[in-house]
Amino acid sequence: MKILVINGPNLNLLGLREPDIYGTESYQALLDSIDETCRKAEIEYEVFQSNHEGALVDKIQEAYGNFDGIVINPAAYTHTSVAILDALKAVGLPAVEVHLSDINRRESFRKFSYISAACLKTIAGKGFAGYWEALLFLKEYERKSRHDL
Ligand code: DQA
Repeated sequence: MKILVINGPNLNLLGLREPDIYGTESYQALLDSIDETCRKAEIEYEVFQSNHEGALVDKIQEAYGNFDGIVINPAAYTHTSVAILDALKAVGLPAVEVHLSDINRRESFRKFSYISAACLKTIAGKGFAGYWEALLFLKEYERKSRHDL
């Protein structure tokens, strides 16, 4: 089981960035916690972060044939990017959308996600734990899909 974790713009500034909303832990702390979850659950993974929409689209395209699932926090592109939605639909990999904050309880422009339409589920407002939940969900989803074959 190999999962690609994708993080969009400004998530590399975790800790510095609006700590009242995103917490005081750094991006490296998020990476460490993802690593711990994956090691315990025996999930192979790669994390990719970019501030550029096209780079995120390229990475999703490259995932085809190389990964079994995608965990994605598209950050601000959640609310604007048809290109990321189309890329996820194109590769057709099981995907879970994650947001550190609860996008439904913030400004109204954050309530709509283009990305949800290509994802099995959306996890928002659980901080780092949202990523762990998404990884374990995809592992279980893959196990069930194999069982059904
Ligand atoms: C975010 C929520 C988005 O609205 C915002 O633009 C982000 C981060 C989150 O993780 O809570 O950059 O995706």
